[in-house]
Amino acid sequence: MTDISRRDFLKGLAVGGTLGYFAMAGVSSTVMKNAFLPPPKVGAVEIGECKSVKATVISETSWFNNSLLMGDMQKAGGLLVNQYEIPWTNTGVQEGWKGDNAGGYSTLIEVEQLDGKKRKFLLDTGWNVDWTDTCFQREGIDKMLSNKEIEFLFVTHEHFDHYWGVEATLKYYPDIPVIVPKGFYPEGFELLKGAEFTKCHLANKVPHTGPLEVRDSSKVHPVIPGVASITFDVPIITRVFGEQALVFNVKDKGLVVITGCCHMGIITLMEYVRETIKGGDNIYAIQGGLHISPFEDWDPQYDDLVLAIHKYGIQKMGCNHCTGYVTAEKMIAVNLPLVRGTAQNKSKRDIYLGNGDFLMI
Ligand SMILES: [Fe+2]
Ligand SMILES: [Fe+2]
Repeated sequence: MTDISRRDFLKGLAVGGTLGYFAMAGVSSTVMKNAFLPPPKVGAVEIGECKSVKATVISETSWFNNSLLMGDMQKAGGLLVNQYEIPWTNTGVQEGWKGDNAGGYSTLIEVEQLDGKKRKFLLDTGWNVDWTDTCFQREGIDKMLSNKEIEFLFVTHEHFDHYWGVEATLKYYPDIPVIVPKGFYPEGFELLKGAEFTKCHLANKVPHTGPLEVRDSSKVHPVIPGVASITFDVPIITRVFGEQALVFNVKDKGLVVITGCCHMGIITLMEYVRETIKGGDNIYAIQGGLHISPFEDWDPQYDDLVLAIHKYGIQKMGCNHCTGYVTAEKMIAVNLPLVRGTAQNKSKRDIYLGNGDFLMI
């Protein structure tokens, strides 16, 4: 500890604990890490390998006006109010889709297996059915669903912007296998069966007739060779519970993690992948909502969070939506490898992957 003064060490701790200190200490941090921290545990669960994965953003504009969305939640009683009890603004939104503030989140996943076979899955299904359908038609998801080329719908969590547009998927493929995380509420299952909830302006006119699987957090769930899902028991704003993510093992690259909102927290997610899945010490890429500043607020502790991401040595970050623009700016400022987008199809900025953009590993 000769080259580092006690004063600097304490200053570092005040900034943000050990990580803040390491960030301040620069090159000396490796020495310090080796001295103070035990070697990280690396996972043992084998998920196989795939040749590549491509994740295309069908829609990341979950809502079009942030302050309206926040206002809807606050007027209803705050962030913990049941999402089905909130009268979401659905008329007169200038920048919205046909006056509605509801958009949605949906991603197409295309995997090439080692034998060359291509597999397709849909991760989340938007919010506003009309907007989601428009996005589906733009990217050809409508035809892929009708042809049953898309093998299943993987619902990351029950949130309005990821799940409530389920009619857009069922319209083209009513018996599609659906995978949800443990923690879904009765309303979520009723919606799938064709319920209507007038208070929150929600309906599904096409009942689901296919298999439904609920995945819990007890294990890593195999999907296809090189792909697995993981589930987190996490309480989430607007009375949602549980979120699941997908992990891919791409040959000669490393692990790729694709999330919906990342309500489990990016560090919790990265640590779990590293400690559980074989190859977890090489997380090559991540894509999805990273849930740091979804409403563009900022707290100094988020700076530590952004700096902490360096620890995982991620090569490509394809974030969007609830990551927040302010977070993206901070990530770029500290040289995290954010993949830029094109600001098309109503995505507002090119700072991260937007509607129609993709990441291929
Ligand atoms: Fe969410
Ligand atoms: Fe979200």
